[in-house]
Amino acid sequence: MHEAFFPVCPVCKQPLQSVDRTLQCAAKHSFDLAREGYVNLLTHGHKKADAIGDSREMARARRAFLEKGYFRPLADALIELLRESGMEHPNVLDICCGEGYYAKQIKQAVPCNLLGFDLSREMVRLAAKQVPDALFFVANLASVPLPDRCVDVAIHLFAPFHEPSFARLLKEDGKLVTVVPGRRHLFALKEAVYDTPYENDEKLPQTTALRLTETRKVSAEIFLDNAADIQALFSMTPYSHRTKKEDLLKLEQLETLRTEIAFVLGIYESQGN
Ligand SMILES: C[S@@+](CC[C@H](N)C(=O)[O-])C[C@H]1O[C@@H](n2cnc3c(N)ncnc32)[C@H](O)[C@@H]1O
Ligand SMILES: [Zn+2]
Repeated sequence: MHEAFFPVCPVCKQPLQSVDRTLQCAAKHSFDLAREGYVNLLTHGHKKADAIGDSREMARARRAFLEKGYFRPLADALIELLRESGMEHPNVLDICCGEGYYAKQIKQAVPCNLLGFDLSREMVRLAAKQVPDALFFVANLASVPLPDRCVDVAIHLFAPFHEPSFARLLKEDGKLVTVVPGRRHLFALKEAVYDTPYENDEKLPQTTALRLTETRKVSAEIFLDNAADIQALFSMTPYSHRTKKEDLLKLEQLETLRTEIAFVLGIYESQGN
């Protein structure tokens, strides 16, 4: 792995080095590597934040759904973008990596150094097991323990936007790829559940720290042939927390679902360019 593309100590910001089964800094702050190969870099004050990362159930549902390849077109678009960039062995950071589906697809297709982090320990654990040739760590997006300007391409999918961190982490010619749901994303799922489904507004995050240089659209149709996949998909959506009981019952009765998936990719660069 490239020397400068490696976590720093979350306490004193000095470089970390592998020593036996730990990562240590010169001041001897030490962080154990878990059996699965990930490391928890949440500092004491941030430890409670672990509780607000996604739960074990959410992690499992995400894994169950994504591993069936339903969102493969999005992974392919990310791979294409990396290939087109022409960068040789780029430093790729998967921000709020979840259970590692996209990291796995990218690592299989593009030679790169890959790091990923998430606030949820369970997500990071699953990601580390799934992609042994990348390093994953538990950390908060608001204080990512990585050196300044070390990232060539940051992948940021369905997660909170934090422009100060992005601006700090990207190299001067680095790129951040973020994704928002397209207008008709999962519309048939919404139609099945709600009386008046709405379309997404496709609004990409507004930022002054970065410059939006390009947008791309990806869409496809998927067919879910069982109730478990439909439930897993629904539990990944933001609506799963705010749906009435009677609407949830409609969902439980669905045996199959054919729906559009649609994504808008926003590609941002450092403002300094
Ligand atoms: C909807 S999931 C997306 C996961 C992954 N990017 C994917 O597309 O499969 C959002 C993720 O953001 C993580 N997350 C939320 N707030 C975070 C924060 N402040 N710092 C790091 N991760 C955070 C959650 O734990 C969760 O895994
Ligand atoms: Zn330290």
